[in-house]
Amino acid sequence: MHFSDNVAALTPSATLAITARAKKMRAEGRSIIDLSAGEPSFPTPEVAAEGAAAAVRAGRTGYPPTPGVPELREGIVRYLGETSSYAPDDPAGVLVSAGVKQGLFNLCFCLFGEGDEVLIPAPFWTSYLAVVELARARPVVVQTKFDEGFALSVDRLEAQRTENTKGLFLNSPSNPSGVVMDLGILEDICAWAGEHGIWILSDEIYRRLYFDGDSAPSVFDVKDRPGHVVALDGMSKAFSMPGWRIGWSVGPPELIRKASALQSQTTSAAAGPSQYAAAAALASEGRESIVGEFRRILDRRRQAAHAALQGIPGFDAPLPPGAIYMYGRLGSGDRAPGDSAAVAESLLVETGVATVPGEAFGTPGFLRLNFSVEDEIFAEGSDRIRAWFGST
Ligand SMILES: Cc1ncc(COP(=O)(O)O)c(C=O)c1O
Repeated sequence: MHFSDNVAALTPSATLAITARAKKMRAEGRSIIDLSAGEPSFPTPEVAAEGAAAAVRAGRTGYPPTPGVPELREGIVRYLGETSSYAPDDPAGVLVSAGVKQGLFNLCFCLFGEGDEVLIPAPFWTSYLAVVELARARPVVVQTKFDEGFALSVDRLEAQRTENTKGLFLNSPSNPSGVVMDLGILEDICAWAGEHGIWILSDEIYRRLYFDGDSAPSVFDVKDRPGHVVALDGMSKAFSMPGWRIGWSVGPPELIRKASALQSQTTSAAAGPSQYAAAAALASEGRESIVGEFRRILDRRRQAAHAALQGIPGFDAPLPPGAIYMYGRLGSGDRAPGDSAAVAESLLVETGVATVPGEAFGTPGFLRLNFSVEDEIFAEGSDRIRAWFGST
């Protein structure tokens, strides 16, 4: 079949494809340990479920306003003010979308086009390349090093900057590495981007899943940030509500209005009941205890996962400071030749453990494992991985 140039190079999300394959194998009767998915395993908080149910019962099921229902947009402004240094108190700079994914698509489509280059530090979340390419711009990967804790620096960015550089993606805590950028480096990068008129799209979906404090630093904590900054966050991770599809972009009102116009022509708005669920969760008195409890459980699982993976020859997985993944480097032994796609394939076929290879994140030679699954599931998965790598 002939497809348009818009989608000629488009492939399905690598992580979603692996998760779908693991589900299929399980349906065929295999014993599958799925460590590939990108979602926490907690149920939706009760207050959110109630918020959606109450809105539906009250008949609030018409088309929502394109940028989001007022309760949610105002709730996001309050939430940001309470959990970061974000100061504006009106919601003109907030656009609610069907997840951060739609937010990123809106923004890339509005800001970038043919001939533009967008810097993407690796390892990166698998969809960043695709979304830049859908806007017909060119993703430019900026490599970082495992031995340096995947630290990003202005020097690394500057080395890739050209006169066509229009944008930069940031993602802290990072999927897949869990690495967190401190405020100092965020300040340096904001100053550099401001000087060169480069848009920063800061994907902060894991900001609250940070284990050395309540929140990882946000671009909104940078006092002298330039005007060309947008931060994205949502309900999928910290509130464990990925299926509700609620995310938001927060930035200059002029850009938000254009992105909203684009959304009005594509999806109209994020689903209304989901917006009321999110609004109820953000406004609830128990909000911080919900997030805090998730963080406490995840921290315990993170420590257990880290301990369970220690001493496996040919697999070096450091303790991540944020997010929900162990990102381990493969060694050069017989069992782990550094070809992570082949290793992930063998692990799945031979042991039934689904992981995501580093190829999906622009860094071959690594494996990503979701540590947020229930304790016994990770324990069984790490036992099978250890046996596969040939240790006892
Ligand atoms: C870094 C990152 N950004 C965005 C998303 C998607 O977020 P949403 O569910 O809000 O579309 C994910 C999901 O895995 C992610 O890991």
